Amino acid sequence: QEDIFKKVISHAKEYGYVFQSSEIYDGLSAVYDYAQNGVELKKNIREYWWQAMVQLNDNIVGLDSAIFMHPTTWKASGHVDAFNDPLIDNKDSKKRYRADVLVEDYVAKIEAKIEKEVKKAAKRFGDSFDKKQFLETNARVVDYQKKADGILKRLGQSLENEDLVDVKALIEELEIACPLSGSRNWTDVKQFNLMFGTKLGASADSAMDLYLRPETAQGIFVNFLNVQKTGRMKIPFGIAQTGKAFRNEIVARQFIFRMREFEQMEMQYFIKPGTQQEWYEKWKEKRMNWHLSLGMGEESYRFHDHEKLAHYADAASDIEFKFPFGFKELEGIHSRTDFDLSQHEKHSGKKLQYFDPEENKSYVPYVLETSIGLDRMFLAVFSNSLKEEELENNTTRTVLKLPAVLAPTKAAILPLLKRDGLPEVAKRLVDDLKWDFNVTYDEKDAVGRRYRRQDANGTPFCITVDHQTLEDETVTIRHRDTMEQQRVQFDEVKGIIAKEVDM
Ligand code: GAP
Repeated sequence: QEDIFKKVISHAKEYGYVFQSSEIYDGLSAVYDYAQNGVELKKNIREYWWQAMVQLNDNIVGLDSAIFMHPTTWKASGHVDAFNDPLIDNKDSKKRYRADVLVEDYVAKIEAKIEKEVKKAAKRFGDSFDKKQFLETNARVVDYQKKADGILKRLGQSLENEDLVDVKALIEELEIACPLSGSRNWTDVKQFNLMFGTKLGASADSAMDLYLRPETAQGIFVNFLNVQKTGRMKIPFGIAQTGKAFRNEIVARQFIFRMREFEQMEMQYFIKPGTQQEWYEKWKEKRMNWHLSLGMGEESYRFHDHEKLAHYADAASDIEFKFPFGFKELEGIHSRTDFDLSQHEKHSGKKLQYFDPEENKSYVPYVLETSIGLDRMFLAVFSNSLKEEELENNTTRTVLKLPAVLAPTKAAILPLLKRDGLPEVAKRLVDDLKWDFNVTYDEKDAVGRRYRRQDANGTPFCITVDHQTLEDETVTIRHRDTMEQQRVQFDEVKGIIAKEVDM
């Protein structure tokens, strides 16, 4: 599993998808840049989402609110008081950890230890089956699993009750079971706010403390009435936006899964109080269908309904995706009640109510939110698409089977040879197609190698111009996933590509 993930990261770099930020200065941790192919894939994912949310729903409109917001926003939203991670420092190594992640790491470590033991035992039993020994080992494993479950449950409870002393005790207990770099010298667990602070204004005494937004949602809440009135929106209606969000994540790992600067695609659906359950179910289904429409396999997704809820929610579920490191949250669907709008009413002193003409009364709407990380979606698509295939002639090919609608380059136009007028014809084809799709031209190396290059790049079609083209205006189209080739007329090319890549 780890190997696959390493391949994903190196492939993303080698093929111009994702680079470490400021790499020449040895990088900045948990910050990444999208390169020539990455920026196209990211744009296509964003557009695929925007089309499904805004273009196809006449009661959902878009918004692009500023990253800077009045600081009271974050007091009202609860982020100043409640957007924290529990941290613990190791006094010897001077390393800082997120306490909950540290516990999970310990549990995983112990699990790996047990697994090793089981494997060893199984090998032994393979030689001469010893029933007593087998049962003993088995009992130990079952016992351990129970313990691990218990530990994680206790962690959840302690964090929920903000019982940080208990979290520390748990860490110390685990360390005895499985020492990490031999030290047991921990500080107390402390809460640490995840928002980045900055200042607005030049002079020290008049400067105003600001935060970089940790979610795009609040820009939607504070604009709710402006949009509703100017757009003459009737409940239920939605506001969607995509944009950067910032969190000072402590455990910055797993590549673009958890970043300090990332992009969200969020939609707030404003509804009548009392209808939240119905809309919660509906949006769970709608969002899952959006994911399934990309064809990455039903088995890649699952719902995880939350028992522990954020401070603003009365129901919440994650759509989890099977990343190379296991099932992890990709998108959240939250029933946020009237928490945010009511808080903004309270802190701003302005009414944020909707006049319902059918009921002939005003109320603060409830909100159903769908929130997905664009970078995380990128990682889901990219890691799921990267395949090593064994071919018939005993060679392997690396192919990035991106859904064609999302692929950065839709077609590569390849002259079979660099002479006999073939490049000129191929370039004419490029000039014709580039108005409709991202296409690329490649004449370097043998055509087989060029195919492989495009496979690894994720390009769904290769169009080859050869001598026959000069005679009858036909080309071959090679399909990335099946490697099948078909001979078609020049003027059929556009339609064949469009059928696969149009949103
Ligand atoms: N407005 C609700 C909200 O922000 P969240 O669960 O904190 O909810 C929503 O975040 C989504 O944003 C997550 O499901 C994830 O896809 C993405 N996300 C959150 N933190 C992230 C990070 N540090 N790096 C990349 N994506 C992140």
